Amino acid sequence: MNLDALNDVAIRMAAPGKGILAADESTGTIKKRFDSIDVASTEDSRRDYREMLFRAETAMREHISGVILFDETIRQNAADGTPLVKVIEAAGSIPGIKVDKGAKDLAGAEGEKVTEGLDGLRERLKEYYELGARFAKWRAVIDIAGNEIPSGYCISVNAHALARYAALCQEANIVPIVEPEVLMDGDHDIERCYDVTEFTLKTLFDELFAQDVALEGTVLKPNMVIAGKKCPKQASVEEVAEATVRCFRSAVPAAVPSIVFLSGGQSDEDATAHLNAMNEAYADQMPWALSFSYGRALQAAPLKAWGGKAENVAAAQAAFAHRARMNGLAQKGEWNAGLEAA
Ligand code: 13P
Repeated sequence: MNLDALNDVAIRMAAPGKGILAADESTGTIKKRFDSIDVASTEDSRRDYREMLFRAETAMREHISGVILFDETIRQNAADGTPLVKVIEAAGSIPGIKVDKGAKDLAGAEGEKVTEGLDGLRERLKEYYELGARFAKWRAVIDIAGNEIPSGYCISVNAHALARYAALCQEANIVPIVEPEVLMDGDHDIERCYDVTEFTLKTLFDELFAQDVALEGTVLKPNMVIAGKKCPKQASVEEVAEATVRCFRSAVPAAVPSIVFLSGGQSDEDATAHLNAMNEAYADQMPWALSFSYGRALQAAPLKAWGGKAENVAAAQAAFAHRARMNGLAQKGEWNAGLEAA
C-alpha cells in the first residue's frame, strides 16, 4: 500500500471548489431514472447519457474531482471509440468505481439490509485498478423506522463489511469511499437522525481502526443530519448545518482528509444550500474538507433537459454545468440563492 498516493487522491476529492459526480447507478436504478423521462435504458443510451456528462468539459475540469462509475461504464467506450475512463481523465478528473453488490435483506432483522460484495473483491479491485480506477465506493444502508430500527446488529455488520472493503481497497492502492447512508425516508425528526448517524459513525470508525485501515487514505461519504422527508417538523438550513457539523466533530477523526456528502433525495437546491451553510459558518472548526458526491442532486436537471434527444445535449450539459458550479461554490461557502437564477 502506498499511503502517500492514497492520501493525495483522498485530498484531491474535496479540493477547493470541487466534488464528486456519482454516476454509478446500477442497471436497475438507471432504468428507473430513464423511465422518468420516457427513455429506454439500453447499453447505448446509458453510454450516450453518461458520455454527455463527462464531455461537459468546463464543468468537469473546474468542479468535478472524480466520477464514480458502474462496472458497465468503466469498460465502455465513447461513441468515437475513446474509453470513457480516458474522457474523464482528459478533463482532469479521477475515475472511481462502485464495487458493492447492493444492499440485501439482513437475516434475522426484518426490514433491515446488509451490503454484499466482499467475495472476489480482491481480484476485482486489481482489475479495476488496471482499468484506471483510483478510488472505490461501498454503500451501506441504515434505515430509521419506529424505535427498533436500526438495530445495533444491522449497524455493526454493515460497519464490519465497510471496513473489510476499505482494507482490501487500500491493499490495491485504491482509495475507499466509505458510505454509511442513514436514510432520510421516514418521519423521524432531526434529533433522531443525529443519534443514529453519530452511533453509526462511531461504530464505523471503531471497525476501521480494528481492521487497520489508514484513515488518511479514506474518504467518508455520509448523509447530512436532517429530518426525515415525512417529518412534519423540517429543520432549517442553519439547523441542518449546525447538527451535521456537531455530529461529525463528535464522531469523525481528524485524520480523515475529505468528507463528501450524498444528496439522498434532497432537492438540488437544498443539497447545495446545506453544504454551503456548513462551509460558510464552520470552516474554521472542521479538520476535514467538506464537499459533495451527489448523484441525483447533480443529475436530475441534466437528465430532464436531455430527455434522450441528441438536439438537447447542449442544454443538458449547461444544466449539469450550472449544478456543478453551484455546488463548487458551496464547497467554498460562497454560494447564495441569488446565484441560482444567474
Ligand atoms: P445521491 O446523491 O442521489 O444520494 O447518490 C449518491 C450516491 O452515490 C449514493 O450511493
